[in-house]
This record gives sequence, C-alpha cells and structure tokens, in this order.
Amino acid sequence: MGRKSSTFLSPIFALDPASAEPLYHQLYEGIRDAILDGRIARGTQLPSSRLLAAELSVSRNTVVNAYAQLLAEGYLEGEAGSGTYVTLRLPDDSLRAVRGTSTTPPGAPTRPRLSRQGQALQRYATTHTLSRNEPRPFQPGVPAVDEFPFRLWERMVARQWRKHPWQLLTYGPAEGAQPLRQAIAEYLRMARAVRCDWRQVILVSGSQQAIDLTARVLLDPGDAVWMEEPGYRGARDALVAAGLALAPVPVDAEGISVRAGRATAPGARLAYVTPSHQFPSGVTMSVTRRMELLCWAAETGAWILEDDYDSEFRYVSRPLSALQGLDESGQVIYAGTFSKVLFPSMRLGYLVAPPPLVDVFTAARSIADRHSPMVDQAVLAEFMREGHFGRHIRRMRTLYQERRDTIVEALTRELDGLLELSPAAAGMHLVGWLPGTVDDVEASRLAANAGVIAQPISAYCLAEPARRGLMLGYAGYSSAALKLAAGQLAQALAGLRAKRPTTR
Ligand SMILES: Cc1ncc(COP(=O)(O)O)c(C=O)c1O
Repeated sequence: MGRKSSTFLSPIFALDPASAEPLYHQLYEGIRDAILDGRIARGTQLPSSRLLAAELSVSRNTVVNAYAQLLAEGYLEGEAGSGTYVTLRLPDDSLRAVRGTSTTPPGAPTRPRLSRQGQALQRYATTHTLSRNEPRPFQPGVPAVDEFPFRLWERMVARQWRKHPWQLLTYGPAEGAQPLRQAIAEYLRMARAVRCDWRQVILVSGSQQAIDLTARVLLDPGDAVWMEEPGYRGARDALVAAGLALAPVPVDAEGISVRAGRATAPGARLAYVTPSHQFPSGVTMSVTRRMELLCWAAETGAWILEDDYDSEFRYVSRPLSALQGLDESGQVIYAGTFSKVLFPSMRLGYLVAPPPLVDVFTAARSIADRHSPMVDQAVLAEFMREGHFGRHIRRMRTLYQERRDTIVEALTRELDGLLELSPAAAGMHLVGWLPGTVDDVEASRLAANAGVIAQPISAYCLAEPARRGLMLGYAGYSSAALKLAAGQLAQALAGLRAKRPTTR
C-alpha cells in the first residue's frame, strides 16, 4: 500500500481540557482508536506536531508525547524530519481480533461497559507494561542486578524453608512480618533519620503500591494533587488512574516550587515529591523548601507523599535525612522500595504511615492483595539483620560511583557543548540537558535508531517542558558498555549540533 497524504485529525477527536486525564493521553487514545477502527488508514501521514497542536489548540508537547507513545507501541513509524505515518505493518487479522469486527453486528458497542475507575485504568491498558527486554544503556531505573549476591540469597532461602516450613505457607499479616518491619524501622532511623516505630512500617509490593494505596486511602476522585514537573510517570499514572486532578508544579534548583504550587492549586490535598533526589532532574530539595512544604501541609491539612526511591546512592556526602524526619504534624507518608537497592522484581517496598493511619493502610493492603510472600520477607529480614544489606549497599555505591564517573567523562568527551549534564552527586541516572533549540523527542528517536535508549525529559512533563533533555541511566551497565553507548549517542546526535544556538 502506498503512502497517503497528510490528514487533519481534529474532527476525529474531542479533547476534554477539564478531564483529570492528561491531554496527551486523550490524544494518544483517540489516534490509537481511530487507527484500530480504520478511521485513519494505514500508511496515512499524520500532520506535524506543530500543525496538529495549533489545530487542536494544545501545546506542542501534548502532541509530541502522544506521537512518542504511538511510535513506541508501533502504531506509527517515521524518521525525524521525514514525517510520521500510520504503520503499514499492522496486520488486518490482529485488527479484527482486537476490535472484534468479524463477529460484532454493526452499531453494537465494541467495548464492555466499565466503571469510571475501569475507564481510567483502561487508558493505561496498553501502556502499563514495563520493558522486559534485557536492559541496555541508558535505560534508567535499572540496578546492577548481575552484582546481586544470589548464591548467598539462595542459601538463605533454603535455610528459611528448613526452619519455618508451615509459617511460610499459610496466610501472613497484611502489614508484614514483624522481624522485617523491625529491621526496616531500624535501618530507616539510622540511615534516613526517619522518625518511626516499627509498628508504623507497612510492607507493600513496591513504591507503586504505596502510591496507589495513598491515593485511595486519603483522597477522593477529583481532588487536586501537586505533581513534580517534570516528574515520575509511575506516580503520575497511579494518581490519574485514581481519578485525581494533577497540578504540575515546576521543580527548580531547590526542588518543587511551593510558591508556584500555592498559586496554581492552593486547595490541593496531596503533594507527591522525591526530595532526596528529584526524579528525573536529580535536584536535592533544599532545607528551606522542605520547611515551606511542611508549613503548607500543616496549614492546609494536605498530605505529602515522600518517595525516597534511591537515596542510598549518594556519592559526595552522607545521604540526606528524609523529609519525614522534619515533620511535626504527621502529614508525611514516607515510601521506600527494595527495587533499586536490591532488584525490582522482588516487589517489596514499605510505607511509613503516621500512627493514626496505620490501621487504615493495613486494611487497604489486605483488601488489595492480602500481603507479600512470607518467604521473601523472612529471608530479607535475615539479610538485613546479618549485615548483608548494608554491605551490598556499600558495594553498589562504590560501583555506581565508578560508573557515574565513567559516564560523565565519556559524555563530556563525546558530547561536550551539546549536552549539559545535571548534578550527578547521587542516584543511578543523570540528565543531559539539550540547548533550547533542540527537540528532545527527535534526539531520543535518533538515539533509538542507533540502538541507544535515551528517554526525552518532555515525556515526564504534563505541560510544555521548561527545559528539554535526555534521561541517561548508568548504574546497571559496565564501564565498557557506557563508553560504547556514549560514542553511539554522539554519532546519532551529530546532526543536532548544527541546531545548537551560538551563544548559551
Ligand atoms: C521515582 C521512583 N519511585 C519509585 C520507583 C520504584 O518503584 P517500585 O518500588 O514500584 O519498583 C522508581 C523506579 O524507577 C522511581 O523512579
């Protein structure tokens, strides 16, 4: 089939700016549905993001994000500068299977009737799957899983099965096994200056569940939430799926701007923040900002959800204390995870709830999925108690610091002048900020064509990004792999240097 000429799409969509669902996602879904049911034919060239943004009266970033999602899922294809097309390779059979067109009588509804919550969730039905490919540079969020002491872990698992066979096989407490909660509380008091008794520690299946439970236990659909801009998509998706109205609040060199939050959404019921190492920008929230945020919460009764996902990896000084440790009025829900310090498929994390919320969070966990596997909890408790956890963190901190030095050195050598690197004092990734004239989605696509993963920062924004750049994860990759990828990235982006402004 040949290429069709450019189509204007606006008659096909009704975007609802008042909806809690981000506009880019409404647009993504509208285009995807139109492709699937044939209203936009295969091979059709879509209008440029600039043109469509103007036509729909939305920001260009909205269209760029929607196109990026559709490109990633294979509905669209295209190369920078030569247009974006509906893929020719979407097979008719799978179209029929997906839409049920062969069996559905004309006019009959093609979708099952869903609740409002179900409809909100369905918007994520095709986007929720995280990458299951073998990680490669610079995919962020991946720890050095090959360095995990799995022989030791294996022995410890066997020991648990020998010691406690029946206790590990029956139902356990929803809030988690006491020895693990005690080990976590002790670790948090010592290493993160979290103020807590072990009874406040509730086991969850990772930060994602902590965010989901917080949204459902503390907020009602329609409530406003301050969301860091740019911010973590896992949190954004969970909060939107819970029917909340997200207010993007800019992050500057000191962290989330409380002044901007007060101006844009003074009545917000929750602020989602990553104070130790803002995701994705890497900024550490200043003490002044922490106090401003806590004051706002105490004044208005709003909650703060502190996502402390990778604070163990700080290279220049001791890890900073948690925001929770400064909270005098019990407004902070603290969430932590073993996904970065150990490995993500473990699906173990925890939240520290203010004492009056412990029972309700425990009930919510029990109703959601009962509890986490008992054998993993027993092994992890012993792993922490016997000092292996602390040793593993120290070893990974040294390794990640070396890898951080390698990537900084390689990117500075290969891409100096094109990428301005974010502060890399902590964490497992950094941001390469691009000059104002360069489109990060285009840069990301060029990188992908060269086999390098470099996600655009604009994909982490709800509004037009203040700055564009690329997310560059390094912790999970060897120095050799990082150097090679830095060279490939430099080659892929060589053409963009011409677009660099002459003064900076
Ligand atoms: C900001 C942030 N929070 C939390 C997590 C971890 O989530 P989980 O514990 O659900 O694996 C990540 C992982 O990428 C993250 O980037």
